[in-house]
Amino acid sequence: MQDKFGRKITYMRLSVTDLCNLRCRYCMPEEGIAGKMTHPQMLTEDEMIDAVKAAASLGVTKIRLTGGEPLIKKNIVSICRRIREIPEIEQIAITTNGTLLPQYAQPLKEAGLNRVNLSLDTLNPEKYARMTRRGNFEEAWTGLMAALDAGFDKVKINAVLIGGFNDDEIEDLAQLTTRYPIDVRFIELMPMYDSGDFGQDALIPGSVVLDKLPQLKEVLAGPPGQVARMYRLPGALGKVGLINPLSHAFCSECNRIRLTADGKLKPCLHSNQEISIKGLDLDGMKEKMREAIMAKPQQHEVMDAVHRSDAGRNMNEIGG
Ligand code: 5AD
Ligand code: SF4
Repeated sequence: MQDKFGRKITYMRLSVTDLCNLRCRYCMPEEGIAGKMTHPQMLTEDEMIDAVKAAASLGVTKIRLTGGEPLIKKNIVSICRRIREIPEIEQIAITTNGTLLPQYAQPLKEAGLNRVNLSLDTLNPEKYARMTRRGNFEEAWTGLMAALDAGFDKVKINAVLIGGFNDDEIEDLAQLTTRYPIDVRFIELMPMYDSGDFGQDALIPGSVVLDKLPQLKEVLAGPPGQVARMYRLPGALGKVGLINPLSHAFCSECNRIRLTADGKLKPCLHSNQEISIKGLDLDGMKEKMREAIMAKPQQHEVMDAVHRSDAGRNMNEIGG
């Protein structure tokens, strides 16, 4: 289905939980989020499947499972398998911190998962522990290897660019694409609701990647809705991508809607407008989904070091 601005909506991001086993500083507060979403407010598995069916009936062909951390959801394999049974859905992807992939990569592959995006901002175990407040780099790395072994169509790394934290690792992260068949995508840090104050210096533009790696060659743009600009190092197996939500907003190509774990459709990541589908039947959900697509703004408000996102939630409650 097309929105008011002629954009075709083909992609839904489904946040299956707001909980996470890590506490990344740019994503959520230290104390976590206990008690914000209570169990009865959350979508049930059946409701999630109905929501995907409703989206599919309106033209959505791609689903991304997000969180929080989607792999701490007990029924994640079943959710994936049931989405796979919906004929219109061509592609299922997941965005995960990877720490639980050693157990889950294979079952998810068998359940029909196609793609894995793994969040990894540093290759330094001490820095990893600091940024995630409790994570173990080895677990994430082992998870990455498990994803590669499982034979997904695509494995990508998402690295949030944080000035003063990982700008000295841009080369090392990009070099992973020469050793493994993975894409590495650098994402500009977005100042979310109360995602910590990283200060002006942390908000570095994606263009620093091109400054540090002049040997990167741009590769042709992929399918519409692709938010990353893609490049390749000479002879590399995978690509390097730049996702620049601040320096180069991509609203005009937006092809997505988002559904939170408590059943709120978000027409736009950076708007606090939410439309609830909790407790509705399939037809009710379809109606609300149409409403959400028609409510998509042409673009979001300015976002920079002084203007935080208007999302009204932290990233763990939206799923990116
Ligand atoms: N800015 C940019 N990216 C973020 N992510 C989480 N919080 C932020 C933020 N404030 C990333 C995660 C993950 C994806 C879902 O979004 O690292 O890769
Ligand atoms: Fe968890 Fe991902 Fe947020 Fe880190 S960025 S706290 S891994 S949801």
